[in-house]
Amino acid sequence: MKLFTTYIVILLQAILFPAIINASEQSLTIIYTGAMEGELEPCGCSPGTDFGGVARFAGYIKENKETLSPYVLIDAGNFSAKDTPQGRLKTETMLKSFKVMNYDVVALMGREESLPEQFLLPLIERYKIPAISDSSSYGSALHLKRGDFELNITVDPGDYQEGMLNILLTDRPLSEVRLLEGWDIVILSSGEILEEPVRTGGGIILSGYPKGKRLGVLTVKRDIREKRVVYQHTWQRLGRDVKDDPDVRKIIEEYNTSVGRLSSSSITTLTEGPYVGISRCAECHQPYMDSWVKTGHARALSSLSQKGKQRDPECLSCHTVGFGKEGGFVNIEATPDLANVQCEACHGPGRAHLQDYSRPMSPITKDTCMKCHTPQNSPDFNYRKYLERIKH
Ligand code: HEC
Ligand code: HEC
Ligand code: HEC
Ligand code: HEC
Repeated sequence: MKLFTTYIVILLQAILFPAIINASEQSLTIIYTGAMEGELEPCGCSPGTDFGGVARFAGYIKENKETLSPYVLIDAGNFSAKDTPQGRLKTETMLKSFKVMNYDVVALMGREESLPEQFLLPLIERYKIPAISDSSSYGSALHLKRGDFELNITVDPGDYQEGMLNILLTDRPLSEVRLLEGWDIVILSSGEILEEPVRTGGGIILSGYPKGKRLGVLTVKRDIREKRVVYQHTWQRLGRDVKDDPDVRKIIEEYNTSVGRLSSSSITTLTEGPYVGISRCAECHQPYMDSWVKTGHARALSSLSQKGKQRDPECLSCHTVGFGKEGGFVNIEATPDLANVQCEACHGPGRAHLQDYSRPMSPITKDTCMKCHTPQNSPDFNYRKYLERIKH
């Protein structure tokens, strides 16, 4: 589970000297996220990409509370989703989960600033989010005491505080941030991947892993006698072996229910479209039907149900026939005949062929599969091997 542990030793600067020295070695863990972009959890399409998710973050922190303490939990910003009805639900759910996890600081960056204030501001208040931002509605810095450390966590590159551990949160790119001097720790939410911390003159630069696929864990060890600071950085890659925190899980389930309501309310009329559904194909192609039933394609919707996602538009496009297209899948009540990845998901709409079966179906190429078997959703996809497994 642990990987990429990096050690960086920096000679202690005057600024890191605390006013009162309690012990010769002092330690603090900084747990950070950034650029989550509304990704509450991974889709779970493949074990190869099934990493991250707020319920696992919370589960990991709870499970390891003792070894992590004292710790601060920071989001460097750009946590929100797009400004769509579903995106807004995600953003609100993200904030709720921050609340449950007790984030110490949440920075508001470009994505948050592009949302209407009358949407975001009430949520920040309702969930009592310790937000910092450049805009006048919030403070730009928070001062905290954690363990033996006095922390200045800020979004303002001009707000350096003598005698404190200074942490700057920004969504500017690494190329610009490298030029800033004097900061102990800078955490980016630019979406850049820094496999290892970047060392600057007197400190280090980190970057929140895009879409929360990994949790950043930085341990700061200050040795007063040896006059040095040791930074130990680890990416926690939270896969299927990490247990969800039940409280955050509950919030995600509420989100799933709200998404379901959202999509059922957007249904207007059902048109008789180009798709006919598998039972019609079976009338003449029963042997093909028999072999299809044995493939994963026939279970694609129940895979979603098992995760409470059977009404999530972001999942249905690949787990049904023609979702979002004219006459395609809407939901299981309205269009039960178009559930799962049926014949027409590969062969194309069949109504014309039904009227005159000498009319050919769409040709199938690798691209037909790649619409759904993307590198993200199906990292092991190999056309030849996968074709073999669905042969009929
Ligand atoms: C771009 C297409 C696409 C989207 C969108 C998509 N999936 Fe998938 N999903 C796939 C493919 C392809 C597979 C099969 C992957 C493989 O076996 O290589 C899959 C497999 C799965 C599985 C089965 C995993 C297993 O181990 O058996 C689950 C569960 C799943 N998806 C859930 C979801 C959820 C939840 C969402 C929405 C959040 C979603 N999918 C969105 C394409 C998609
Ligand atoms: C409309 C989207 C879609 C298309 C098009 C599609 N697939 Fe899939 N495929 C899926 C989904 C979703 C799953 C996962 C089903 C599940 O287990 O829930 C899947 C699973 C599979 C699996 C099973 C993996 C396993 O062992 O369980 C194979 C093999 C496969 N697809 C091959 C193909 C091939 C080959 C093509 C192209 C000829 C193709 N698929 C086209 C969505 C699609
Ligand atoms: C995952 C994609 C996929 C699904 C789902 C699928 N097929 Fe196919 N089908 C193929 C591919 C690939 C071929 C290989 C032939 C080709 O090059 O077109 C094929 C071939 C065929 C052929 C032609 C065989 C031949 O000898 O030319 C028929 C008929 C057919 N499929 C019917 C069906 C029916 C009926 C269903 C639903 C029960 C179905 N298919 C589901 C991908 C799919
Ligand atoms: C009324 C009977 C009938 C129905 C219903 C029917 N087919 Fe066919 N289909 C045929 C016949 C007969 C052929 C062979 C045509 C030929 O060789 O000219 C054929 C050929 C095909 C082929 C291979 C030729 C090609 O164009 O690629 C595919 C694929 C296919 N059908 C898929 C489907 C699918 C998918 C459905 C459901 C949407 C479906 N068929 C419904 C009778 C039917």
